[in-house]
Amino acid sequence: MMHTPALIDPFARAITYLRVSVTDRCDFRCLYCMSENMTFLPKADLLTLEELDRLCSAFIGMGVEKLRITGGEPLVRKGIMTFFDAMSRHLASGALKELTLTTNGSQLGKFAADLAACGVRRVNVSLDTLDAKKFADITRWGRLSQVLDGIAAAQAAGMRVKINAVALKGFNEDEQFSLTDWCAREGHDLTWIEVMPMGDLGNENRLDQYWSLRALRARYAERYTLTDLTERSGGPARYVRLEQTGQKIGFITPLTHNFCESCNRVRLTCTGALYMCLGQEDMADLRAPLRASPDNSQLETAIRAAMAHKPKGHDFDYSRKAVTGQMTRHMSHTGG
Ligand code: GTP
Ligand code: 5AD
Ligand code: SF4
Repeated sequence: MMHTPALIDPFARAITYLRVSVTDRCDFRCLYCMSENMTFLPKADLLTLEELDRLCSAFIGMGVEKLRITGGEPLVRKGIMTFFDAMSRHLASGALKELTLTTNGSQLGKFAADLAACGVRRVNVSLDTLDAKKFADITRWGRLSQVLDGIAAAQAAGMRVKINAVALKGFNEDEQFSLTDWCAREGHDLTWIEVMPMGDLGNENRLDQYWSLRALRARYAERYTLTDLTERSGGPARYVRLEQTGQKIGFITPLTHNFCESCNRVRLTCTGALYMCLGQEDMADLRAPLRASPDNSQLETAIRAAMAHKPKGHDFDYSRKAVTGQMTRHMSHTGG
């Protein structure tokens, strides 16, 4: 139930979407996300599931209507189903319109039915290729068959599946249509994402990996009639319909088209840091006010103060044939 005014940032954007990274750990090591030898946060630094509950509930009390659980890989956090179960009370009360997650799919076989029982109706699964060998290469540690089984389990449990594919030059360009056709056959939505300059770029260079969605869209247009759709799923994706198949394809274009003006989200990490933008370093610590007192007044003050710092947008830019606006923070820290 909303009992305080909505969260509004300095650019008059209402913040109604909270993304929560419940762990920085993951059972994969995707090339564009993590390095092979990641150092993870000591477990003692993590907020407990009860603390995460208190934080999320405070945001919901302040007008957040969509809660997306991310990681790292959210389903590797111990006891995470207890947390989903606890959050489902906000769906029941009507305060929360959507409880969902972004996952690599590896644990869905185990958890899909429980997630559905908690009121999760939709799940976003990251999947960049349908080739088992390429999948093993890009995720370093992943097994395609396990993810496909997880996706099947999600569907069997009645959840809608959206596939997120990072568009990578020389990697999945040749799979644009096979992935699209597979999604059509299986009844999944598909969203393409432009690769962002996050994490340490030691051996890899994002500019070499960058495949612009403008180019990808043009290739669709050679084969299909595209209709831009006004419907939104609450995130930054913009959708088109392929008229010949009726399929809906999403584009997340942090590089070719900045969508920051309609940003409605902030992201919380598993240590209680609130990042107002995926592409900026600025953050507010919510752990101290959370732990300072069992009542939420300091916490709510800190949340409101943080909103006043929400920047206009990110500064990612490859247009000068060099990467600027780069972030040293890994995607797994804030969960995308
Ligand atoms: P829907 O609810 O299906 O609309 O999902 P979503 O797009 O909000 O969530 P998802 O976790 O599937 O996000 C996909 C990717 O979009 C993320 O992993 C990020 O890479 C990117 N993304 C989401 N929000 C932002 C943002 O505010 N800025 C930037 N640059 N990228 C974002
Ligand atoms: N650029 C774009 N997307 C990324 N993801 C991880 N790292 C990057 C990056 N550098 C995506 C994953 C997943 C989501 C959580 O973030 O593929 O879909
Ligand atoms: Fe794990 Fe997702 Fe990062 Fe891949 S992109 S390493 S699955 S957190």
